[in-house]
Amino acid sequence: MTLFLPSRADATIVKPLSPRLLTPREGNAEMRWEAMAGQGHVVPTDRFFVRNHTRSPALDVDTWRLRLFGTGLRESPTRDHPVEFDYGDLRAMPAEETTALLECAGNGRRFFASQQAHTAPGVPWGLGAVGVARWRGVRLSTVLRHAGLTDDAVDVQPEGLDQDFVTDGANLGRVRRPIPIGKALDDVLLAYEMNGETLPVDHGFPVRVVVPHWIGISSIKWVGPIEVSTTPLLSPWSTRFYRMFGPGHPADGRLVTTPVVKSAFELPWDARVPSGVEVLLRGRSWSGDGPIRTVDISTDGTTWQPADLDPDDEGGAWQRWTALWRPPRPGRWTLRARATDVTGASQPDQARPNTLGYLFDGVVRHSVTVD
Ligand code: MTE
Repeated sequence: MTLFLPSRADATIVKPLSPRLLTPREGNAEMRWEAMAGQGHVVPTDRFFVRNHTRSPALDVDTWRLRLFGTGLRESPTRDHPVEFDYGDLRAMPAEETTALLECAGNGRRFFASQQAHTAPGVPWGLGAVGVARWRGVRLSTVLRHAGLTDDAVDVQPEGLDQDFVTDGANLGRVRRPIPIGKALDDVLLAYEMNGETLPVDHGFPVRVVVPHWIGISSIKWVGPIEVSTTPLLSPWSTRFYRMFGPGHPADGRLVTTPVVKSAFELPWDARVPSGVEVLLRGRSWSGDGPIRTVDISTDGTTWQPADLDPDDEGGAWQRWTALWRPPRPGRWTLRARATDVTGASQPDQARPNTLGYLFDGVVRHSVTVD
């Protein structure tokens, strides 16, 4: 394995970070929502958000191997003597394509502080740590069966080949998080293509895990080892991070799995809007629990009007919508969008706080200036 040495000394991301498309956030990159205005269902790769615990590694595809081991495989192969597949082996297995949404559990974290006076540590994301892409690869279930999956396996834990994650002086090892066997056998993909092209370095080349409907940390990039176990597996990314702690949550926290309902306008923050004309407001809403059923828009904070849902997105990974607005006069205005998903889950005025600032589902107050 060779590590990528970036030309910019502090760079953690390989792809160009155009300021029109992405906002840098502490070594990560957030999609600018205005860069999605008028785009199709998927997010073009040049503006897809990047969340790295350390930095994007350059892996040599010729020496790269997927290495499966653990008690959940016949003959219990060990980490040192695993069942191996190379890139060509995966490419030769039946391929599948899925359009799936990927969202960081901390997406929207800055609104806990700006709207609810609750500060939380972590990347201060706006609403752009989310994206939808077309992923192509082989089902994890196919690989597990080739590797000799046993009937009593309970957990599968993919591990990234990026550098060990060190925090507060402690080395927590490689980024990894267990997936229960039921989910692993359901719809999880080992992806080698994104949006019709070879998976880019920042998004996990040569192969990443894609766990549809689950928060982004489950979708391990640059996957190498995969442990398959007949006993439950734990990692700091399931016990310490990506758990809801704090008042109203269990003392040992609650595991974060599915994204909550959110909505975003395809507008810059503090956008300028002309007065006296009708403006077409555009945006998108999404939920980890299923399709969006309704979206309501408010421009005055008290009255709400239904947005028009784009029929092309029905049942899709997220829902585009539009609403017409004729600003009555110049000045500062606050736009609000509130979605409801197929389960009836909607966006509250106040999100329930938690110590690490995950799963902000509150209605975001998007300020604009009408000139
Ligand atoms: N996998 C590895 N190996 N290392 C990481 O830092 N970050 C995770 C996940 N997989 C991460 C990882 C997190 S927190 C998220 S939100 C997604 O990758 C982000 O995927 P993206 O950078 O392709 O958008």
